[in-house]
Amino acid sequence: MSRALATTTAKASQPVPVGLDPARLPVHVAVIMDGNGRWAKQRNLPRVMGHREGVEALKRTLRLCSDWGIGALTAYAFSTENWSRPGEEVSFLMALFERVLARELQSLEQEQVRIRFLGDLEPLPEGLRRLIADATERTAVNTGIHFNVCTNYGGRAELVRAAQRLARRCVVGELDPAAIDEQQLAAELHTAGECDPDLLIRTSGERRISNFLLWQLAYAEIHITDVLWPDFNQAALLDALLDYQGRQRRFGGVEPC
Ligand code: FPP
Repeated sequence: MSRALATTTAKASQPVPVGLDPARLPVHVAVIMDGNGRWAKQRNLPRVMGHREGVEALKRTLRLCSDWGIGALTAYAFSTENWSRPGEEVSFLMALFERVLARELQSLEQEQVRIRFLGDLEPLPEGLRRLIADATERTAVNTGIHFNVCTNYGGRAELVRAAQRLARRCVVGELDPAAIDEQQLAAELHTAGECDPDLLIRTSGERRISNFLLWQLAYAEIHITDVLWPDFNQAALLDALLDYQGRQRRFGGVEPC
């Protein structure tokens, strides 16, 4: 039971709400945290205030997923395309990641959360990269929820990188091109070792995948909500999970008689 990213007031772990079947929860939930800018605009605040409030929504979501026994939460924090935003917004986001990680690392460790940052981390500021390396190492053997933060992540870039890594192994004679299968390719993705998401949640009503987990979302159920990310709360997560539990997952097959 994790209280990761805990606020200063420790809260008791929350039971699975009545109406939700604990035996049929998704193992892995992915989330596109959209609508921070609109949330701020509605309040006449600078866009970055939406991102700051978005961190609170992420903390709530991680805590609930952990408490309810969901195995992994993967959040889209910064895409390869987000560098094209105004410089001040990019700098604010980088500083925010750094501040939040430094502040919350101890809680993550104590609460057994395993954190990983997925994406091309090379272009990130040096201080942030150091914190990421430290957090990844210090939580690597933790046995609680897997918390994946996609940072400078792009699904296409991830697939290109995987293809290059496989090609290199072929060139040195380590791998036969004919032996490349789905498992081999999946093993070269940033998400290697993680099961594919069962449920993708996208907030703010947009109906796009936006270059997120292009390979891994092949059979995910998709839940779109109009709720803006900073407002995402227990009711909104419950709604998404109830929607998920109402779906027939057939993975390309047919419904059993
Ligand atoms: C999309 O909303 C949101 C982002 C690009 C940033 C998301 C980042 C966080 C919530 C912070 C996460 C923090 C840590 C430490 C992992 P938008 O700005 O595109 O909103 P809009 O579509 O309304 O403009």
